[in-house]
Amino acid sequence: MSHLEAGSGEPVVLLHAFPMAAEMWRPQLEGLAPHWRVIAPPVTYPEPSVDAAADEVAALLDRLGLDRVVLGGLSMGGYVTLAFLRRHRSRVKAVVLADTRAEPDSDEVRRRRTSQQEQVAREGTGPVVAAMLEALPGQHTRAHRPEVLEEIARIMGTVTPGWVTVALEAMKHRPDSTPDLATIDVPVLVAVGEEDTVSPPPVAAAMAQAVPDGTLAVIPRAGHLANLEDPAAFNAALGDFLARTR
Ligand code: MLT
Repeated sequence: MSHLEAGSGEPVVLLHAFPMAAEMWRPQLEGLAPHWRVIAPPVTYPEPSVDAAADEVAALLDRLGLDRVVLGGLSMGGYVTLAFLRRHRSRVKAVVLADTRAEPDSDEVRRRRTSQQEQVAREGTGPVVAAMLEALPGQHTRAHRPEVLEEIARIMGTVTPGWVTVALEAMKHRPDSTPDLATIDVPVLVAVGEEDTVSPPPVAAAMAQAVPDGTLAVIPRAGHLANLEDPAAFNAALGDFLARTR
């Protein structure tokens, strides 16, 4: 599967959440493209590790002839962004960490992921996708934005059992990136939906504090998929940040 791309100019690479796909960045591909070259690759796992997914992103940059980019990710995409920073730091000009966290999984979360993998093996992706569709969007979106829920469900409907299983395994084994935060020597935007219950605002605020040059943007009335739940507010925060990195 190839990446999505729109616009021209400075490259901005955006990594998607779980269980989502590059298409979740359509509002950013459309909204930022007049000023930026927005690139949304599929997050792929040749091995079940966020490091392997980060190396895939580096290989894409090589193929596109891009030396340094603004790199961002939402939730799982943020885990891969943090892995990329560990492995390919010199290729990152600025960082966007959206609705994500630097901590590894707790034992409880790892156990939940293992039972999700077992469920996928038995029943396919349906039940896991249904649970995530319930858990990720914020209260406001669930009550007032049926068209956004439909779009999220449509994108989640495209994920395959094999990808879900390997992505869950990679997330289970991701290392603690908390000690790395203080060493990120480029500007970092930490964006979070006000109603995100998966990676809530206090987690985002702590990350923004921990990096030397951090900016926190809280997106009102949005949940964990803030870029889709309020594209205008998300794009405004991202656009302002990008303008400062030029
Ligand atoms: C995501 O949105 O990527 C997931 O909620 C991340 C996770 O399960 O930790």
